[in-house]
Amino acid sequence: MKFFADTSDIDDIKKLNEAGMLDGVTTNPSIIAKSGRDFIPLIEEICDIVEGPVSAEVASTDYETMSKEGAKLAAIADNVAVKVPLTPAGLRVCKELSDKGTMVNVTLCFSPGQALLAAKAGAAFISPFVGRLDDICQDGLSLIADILRIYENYESFDTEVLVASVRNPIHIIESAKMGAHVVTCPPSVIHQLYSHPLTDKGLAAFVEDWKKTGQSIL
Ligand code: E4P
Repeated sequence: MKFFADTSDIDDIKKLNEAGMLDGVTTNPSIIAKSGRDFIPLIEEICDIVEGPVSAEVASTDYETMSKEGAKLAAIADNVAVKVPLTPAGLRVCKELSDKGTMVNVTLCFSPGQALLAAKAGAAFISPFVGRLDDICQDGLSLIADILRIYENYESFDTEVLVASVRNPIHIIESAKMGAHVVTCPPSVIHQLYSHPLTDKGLAAFVEDWKKTGQSIL
């Protein structure tokens, strides 16, 4: 399973990259607004750090403007994945960019039917939002299962399921059990995966016992 960081925080991105845990980055207009940074230079900076796909989202909703924005974002770097909303205009831009070899991440997916349309439009990634479905008392993870099941039936679909709106490690583990290709989450959720009280307790005991040997490996 590939791990994308759902952030534009440069320090967090660098740390995860150094830890060897980063396969890509996703951003959205809310994340960019929170950063307080200028969008294009920020995406350029992230693309220089990360080898994998960096999602940069269009801001407009009409086809003509979205198409121009998509072309501009795609030109930033080879590893930009242009993010478009799951609307008729967004999927038209998706098809257009995908046909030219640009990676497209179709975002704001909340149903299997929407995911089917995105695959037909040639999306590199479909982003189903599990957390936002859970927030309204619908089962976000069952959407992941449905999309994977549909995509498996068609060899011509190359679209990867990118589990988005992740709130906790359970979203990651359950998606991995189903074989979802990618998960994007806040760095804090990736860090939660490292933690287990028995690891901490066991390590403390090993450190103490090693001291008793009076030895040094180096
Ligand atoms: C990523 O591509 C999505 O924009 C993001 O995961 C949405 O997360 P949120 O529901 O926590 O805003």
